[in-house]
Amino acid sequence: MHHAYLEKYNFPPFVTAHIIEQFFYIFSIFQTNFMRTIIEPFRIKSVEPIYFNTPIERKSILEKAFYNPFLIHSEDVLIDLLTDSGTSAMSSNQWAGIMKGDESYAGSPSFFHFKDVVQEITGMPYIIPTHQGRAAERILFELVGGKGKYFISNTLFDTTRANIEFSGAEGIDLICEEGKHPSTPAPFKGNMDVAALEKTIIEKGAENIPLVILTVTNNSGGGQPVSMQNIKEVRKICTQYKIPLFIDACRFAENAWFIKIREEGYADKTIPEIVQELFSYADGCTMSAKKDAFANIGGFLAMHSEALALQCRNLLIITEGFPTYGGLAGRDLEAIAIGLKEVMEENYLQYRIRSIEYITEKLVAAGVPVMRPGGGHAVYLDAKEFLPHIPVDQYPGQALACAIYEEGGIRSVEIGSLMFGKYDVDGKLIPATLELVRLAIPRRVYTQSHIDYVAEVLIEVFQKRASIKGLTITEEAPALRHFTVKLKPAD
Ligand code: F0G
Repeated sequence: MHHAYLEKYNFPPFVTAHIIEQFFYIFSIFQTNFMRTIIEPFRIKSVEPIYFNTPIERKSILEKAFYNPFLIHSEDVLIDLLTDSGTSAMSSNQWAGIMKGDESYAGSPSFFHFKDVVQEITGMPYIIPTHQGRAAERILFELVGGKGKYFISNTLFDTTRANIEFSGAEGIDLICEEGKHPSTPAPFKGNMDVAALEKTIIEKGAENIPLVILTVTNNSGGGQPVSMQNIKEVRKICTQYKIPLFIDACRFAENAWFIKIREEGYADKTIPEIVQELFSYADGCTMSAKKDAFANIGGFLAMHSEALALQCRNLLIITEGFPTYGGLAGRDLEAIAIGLKEVMEENYLQYRIRSIEYITEKLVAAGVPVMRPGGGHAVYLDAKEFLPHIPVDQYPGQALACAIYEEGGIRSVEIGSLMFGKYDVDGKLIPATLELVRLAIPRRVYTQSHIDYVAEVLIEVFQKRASIKGLTITEEAPALRHFTVKLKPAD
């Protein structure tokens, strides 16, 4: 990048790439320390109350919820960081779109608005609306999955993995080495291990791998981005072995922002340009519009293959609805179409990523073990480091999520052995690679003082960490057990 500046501008000969690099370094320090605060790029027209309660009340709420934050009533939560999914504040433009939404069963103009925007962003001709991301996944994997098949990913999200396994197929995560070390910063920790990809394809046989899937950003791996370079390398291998590449695109705009600010050659590109390039390497994508579309519900499938799209639509009609609404109301399609454009605004993305970075910096300064750098949509605590006295079969992540709720009324989610753990033939836990607690930040919902409060509570919990106890399971479901699991304090 620094050489590019030399070529672009006519500097005197003593200005070398090294001098330009130093200038940018000093400028970045100046920016961090002396520039004005990056403000929320919106003002608030309508507000919702927060209900306050005390740590003593929360202790008994936790007990009644079987130490599972999913079972707590949201009115008992002060700051809800359970998920960034469907929890966005919609803009006045989106609400206007809600009123404009046309509810015709077939051929609604709201569908064509939605379809045009998705086509423009993805460059893919076949667009299929669904009621949320996992509905798109279910249709796709029912068609291309099945026993004996393997799906390779950087990291599959839990619903994606569940839909793959439900079809009888197997999911394989091949995260890059940097992605396995939560506290070591690296720019693109969401990348796929490309060498391992090729090795796995040879091992399992290309004919048994219906798709390779890149999750951008990599939610289960800490909301970390995937670089354009990595996407290109994965594409190359997919082309070589004739395997289609799909993108799990839930947080495509956040990933594009990271490419813009961290990857050489992208600083001068606009977000829509980066997004279009990102999708240009893919054969298709699944999307949950509950994330980077600021919608409260919705999703879609997009693809280049006409034959696969036809099969998808046939399934869609059975369970989701007619292809011009796919399980959504016309008003939802309008909200998604408008949100998809808003999410690519640079002021928004700068504020969004900065707010996660801001809380991460505060935690690092206080010695709290947190994934570094901050993710695109969430802060991830390293529960193994946070609570080294709790063994993995007593779910340190879940114990930490409960302690954070009790201390400050903040709801978070365990992403570790409770979510991803399996049992061996003797019923012994096979733990997940990482024991994380995710605090996902809903889009455009909380202000900086909410974020300051969250950091204060987390630091207080860290100071009291020695008194936190592990948990054991009393009841669980066979799949996606974390949603409904019941636990009790370990003896
Ligand atoms: N893929 C990724 C990467 C996701 O993060 C999610 C949802 C989905 C697919 C499924 O989409 O919820 O619309 O069916 N993630 C939410 C979360 C639930 O909290 O991270 P959905």
